Amino acid sequence: MARLLNHIFFIVQFYLFSHHKSRFMAVRLSLFVSIVVFSFLCSNQVLAQETYRDFNPGKIWKDNNGVHINAHGGGIVYSNGVYYWFGEHKIEGEKGNTAQVGVHCYSSKDLYNWKDEGIALKVSDDLKSDIAKGCILERPKVVYNKKTKKFVMWFHLELLGKGYEAARAGVATADKATGPYTFIKSYRPNAGKLPFYTAQTAESEKVNCDNPANKSDGFFCRDLPGGQMARDMTVFVDDDGKAYHVFSSEENFTLHLAELSPDYLGHTGKFIRIYIGQQTEAPALFKKDGMYYMVGSGCTGWAPNPARWLKAKSIYGPWEYMGNPCVGPGADITFGGQSTYVLPAPGKKNAFIFMADKWEPKNAIDGRYLWLPIQFDENKLKIEWADNWNLSFFK
Ligand code: GAL
Repeated sequence: MARLLNHIFFIVQFYLFSHHKSRFMAVRLSLFVSIVVFSFLCSNQVLAQETYRDFNPGKIWKDNNGVHINAHGGGIVYSNGVYYWFGEHKIEGEKGNTAQVGVHCYSSKDLYNWKDEGIALKVSDDLKSDIAKGCILERPKVVYNKKTKKFVMWFHLELLGKGYEAARAGVATADKATGPYTFIKSYRPNAGKLPFYTAQTAESEKVNCDNPANKSDGFFCRDLPGGQMARDMTVFVDDDGKAYHVFSSEENFTLHLAELSPDYLGHTGKFIRIYIGQQTEAPALFKKDGMYYMVGSGCTGWAPNPARWLKAKSIYGPWEYMGNPCVGPGADITFGGQSTYVLPAPGKKNAFIFMADKWEPKNAIDGRYLWLPIQFDENKLKIEWADNWNLSFFK
């Protein structure tokens, strides 16, 4: 749009100067045209707006106002032809890693161009609130509940001034995708509950709190009465409408996959432990041809590490560890990023986008987004770097 206006502007200028007899009049008219075009550009924010036709992983990604998108550790929900991207709103500097504002929402119809929809969930000025300004509120994920017709947001919550000690799951709801979301509660899930075992669960994987077999069991048993730790997380809704909360638990040693209640607002107490003692963070789940896939990371804080993927025929496992899905230069550090979500590509069957964050802990707001296509190499996941790509990648 800006380029088109630019061309028209120069043609008009050229016409005025070459056709007008009086130089003075030509200059005046040209000035007038400049002012009109400039005001138009400003009023429409055309100057600020860029139309994207592809993904440029790791680069500044501007919203409709020309501002770098501020939705870190995010996820996406699709509703009535529109994608809504929710993520942590960060501010400048190291303080930006804490929640000073809340959860930011953007909308898009094509996944390239995003409109700022504002803050969907605001942190509270009340210091006693679980989500008091300055707390740590990470990895928000929104899902839609068809039965209650509510949008439900889950997130990892750390209470103000307590570092990463609280390790709680928080939940908020809204009637509209963009919010405003109302905070409901935060807690540690599945207090007093032992894991759910299937016929395939190995004896060695069963918890024994009378004699904890390993360090990880020790943390599980320690937290049994008050509920299990819940840090890095995602929410996955299966084809049958059941939702699952997947989170790093047991001091980040073991992932838990826990069933949510039919209204998605609480845990039912049915859950499994995944990849016990192996420190998986940043889980992202998807389903293809009846098979469940999970991509996650190791546990090295903001610093990148090799991604990992697991698969399972049943959501309750067994989940099989499959190694690093990334290939090529930078594969050993997930190209500098950490997984946050896997998005089914619009209108394409079995096409999925891997979404990751390239954190900038010293200037949190400058964190970048790495979106890359997921490839299936004889049913093995493969993620390759691309400087630039678009949805036509998926045949
Ligand atoms: C990462 C985690 C982020 C954030 C960070 C803090 O491992 O994935 O969400 O919690 O640690 O150091």
